[in-house]
Amino acid sequence: MIDIHTHILPGLDDGADSMEEALAMTSRAVADGIRIMVATPHVITGLYPNSRKAVLEALERFKGALQGNDIPLTVLPGAEYRLEPELGERLSRGELLTINDGGRYLLVEMPPMLVPDFAVQVFYELQLQGVTPIIAHPERNAGFVREPGLLYDLVSRGALSQITAGSLTGLLGSAAAACARKFLERGYVQFIATDAHSGDEGARAPLLAEAADEAARFLGEDQGRSLVTANPHRAILGKAVEASPLEYKRQARRAFWKMLFRR
Ligand SMILES: [Fe+2]
Repeated sequence: MIDIHTHILPGLDDGADSMEEALAMTSRAVADGIRIMVATPHVITGLYPNSRKAVLEALERFKGALQGNDIPLTVLPGAEYRLEPELGERLSRGELLTINDGGRYLLVEMPPMLVPDFAVQVFYELQLQGVTPIIAHPERNAGFVREPGLLYDLVSRGALSQITAGSLTGLLGSAAAACARKFLERGYVQFIATDAHSGDEGARAPLLAEAADEAARFLGEDQGRSLVTANPHRAILGKAVEASPLEYKRQARRAFWKMLFRR
């Protein structure tokens, strides 16, 4: 399996605290069947100002430690960018780190409580430069949970999305689980990833197998497994990943027309 979203590099964000913890996380991941991981430290202006250079240097140090400890895991470069209005400009200046530095996919997270209005514009600017945004864990964003039509709008315009393994398995609560399933069934999700932050047993442990089983139960074996195998493989190679989102009719709009009709 391939995990495209991890906070494995120590010292860059709120993920692994130390090299020891990071190595322990990789051992658990390998035992779970993960063979390739993309390191995606947070990049948030004013909080985690991780530059391309800082991430790439930390990655090289980490790869050395993996080799030194004989851990059979490939770790590739990446980052998780908070959606900010200047993201398109920063991409054009060559400042951003796409998945596997391939220039094709960028992992983007929304602020937790909403989907900013400028998301459509920023995504358009990224896509004009040939980069497809992958929306990180929409099932944990209050804006998408309230209004799944917002996710449909972005995916139907060419974005992709990734749900967190712990959401699907219920470790992040029943609301996240229900939402993750709804988004899966409607074709809004192309990837499952761990978003691993620590080696602890918990919602964001470096584990994918159980979530992959759950997805396979929902979507059928081939389609379910593709979320942790074929699709992330295509993403790290910079190849196209297909999405066929079902249209989402907004509840609020229906209620509005119903109200008008009654008058
Ligand atoms: Fe993350």
